Amino acid sequence: MKILTVLGARPQFIKAAPVSRVLRENHTELIIHTGQHYDSNMSDIFFEELNIPKPDYYLGVGSGNHGKQTGEMLAKIEEIVLKEEPDFVMVYGDTNSTLAGALVAAKLHVPVIHIEAGLRSFNKKMPEEVNRIMTDHVSEFLFCPTQTAIDNLTNENITHNVFNIGDVMYDAVLYNKGLAAEKSEILKEHGLSEKGYHLITIHRAENTDDIHHMKNILDAFSKIEEVKVWPIHPRTKHKLESYGLDLSSVPNLKVIDPVGYLDMLTLEANALKIVTDSGGVQKEAYFMKVPCVTVREQTEWVETLEEDANILVGTDVEKLLAAVEKKVNPSYKEAFGDGKAAEKIVELIKG
Ligand code: UD1
Ligand code: UDP
Repeated sequence: MKILTVLGARPQFIKAAPVSRVLRENHTELIIHTGQHYDSNMSDIFFEELNIPKPDYYLGVGSGNHGKQTGEMLAKIEEIVLKEEPDFVMVYGDTNSTLAGALVAAKLHVPVIHIEAGLRSFNKKMPEEVNRIMTDHVSEFLFCPTQTAIDNLTNENITHNVFNIGDVMYDAVLYNKGLAAEKSEILKEHGLSEKGYHLITIHRAENTDDIHHMKNILDAFSKIEEVKVWPIHPRTKHKLESYGLDLSSVPNLKVIDPVGYLDMLTLEANALKIVTDSGGVQKEAYFMKVPCVTVREQTEWVETLEEDANILVGTDVEKLLAAVEKKVNPSYKEAFGDGKAAEKIVELIKG
């Protein structure tokens, strides 16, 4: 089988690593990197650390408004699909790169494999929600990480070739957790102690593109006494600069550049709490059994909400502070499969 995989953004590199490893044991995989993420600490570092084979095609699309970014991807991916004539196009998650890959393939009658299918926040103002819905509706194979995702698809009458195989991000965590503990020096580099800090990540458009949300978030962070470490996403950095909001006024805050995956796993595992609006980081907090506070109004990862393992706070300052201070002791469940999602995907598409 010849599979053409379309990647473009940080979480997709991480999701693709375990699948690519298994896929290439018996099949041919070609990788298109759209160039949606291009800074070396948003892209190259993951290919190197996770041993993902170098992309066969690099499209260099870069940043831009949704139409321009997705449109350029469509035109360039189409040329490659026509030339390579793959048996399948494989896409991950819910970014503009996901949508572009899926749309091109569907129009050219190449079956689409969607990994991390069926997730819904039920908020169509999120670009990710639009990308997910569109991708799921043109996909031939839908690999879901949870039963909730299967149920969401059933509610939209998508039932053919829908499988709950668990979460590929869990595969990635299990594979890399030990390596991270062995290799990462990130705590030492930043003078952090085990369970001596909170980890922050914020990058979703619904927060960064609203100055009031960002003001509330920074206001809340200013009131958290403990040390906080924040590997800042370039989107957030640029937005804060444009709003004239200065992070140096937040006490006990260490703002650092985006880190590689092994350093991120280490930061997560050793955090007191994780405060985030990331999809992937919410799940990793759960896998690592570290309590999470999610700075959003909805989450697709509803399993994490049980017993306050993850608390949704939106951007309300008091709610955020109360959730960070709340003592929780959840019993973490095996809600995201058994860490063998990649094997199951490859077995199922073989037919
Ligand atoms: C994208 C995804 C989002 C995902 C996130 C993962 C879409 C619509 N959004 O959001 O779902 O959670 O990736 O991190 O696909 N930038 C750089 N260097 C880079 C990449 C981005 O400086 O290497 C800056 C640019 O100013 C750019 C901004 O970040 O305009 C946003 O980048 P973009 O890829 O459009 O969206 P993300 O916010 O990264
Ligand atoms: N991540 C990382 N370095 C960072 C921040 C995040 O390696 O500085 C990893 C994180 O561990 C997770 C993935 O990136 O595996 C999540 O991606 P992101 O938060 O950018 O996007 P989302 O999951 O919200 O789409």
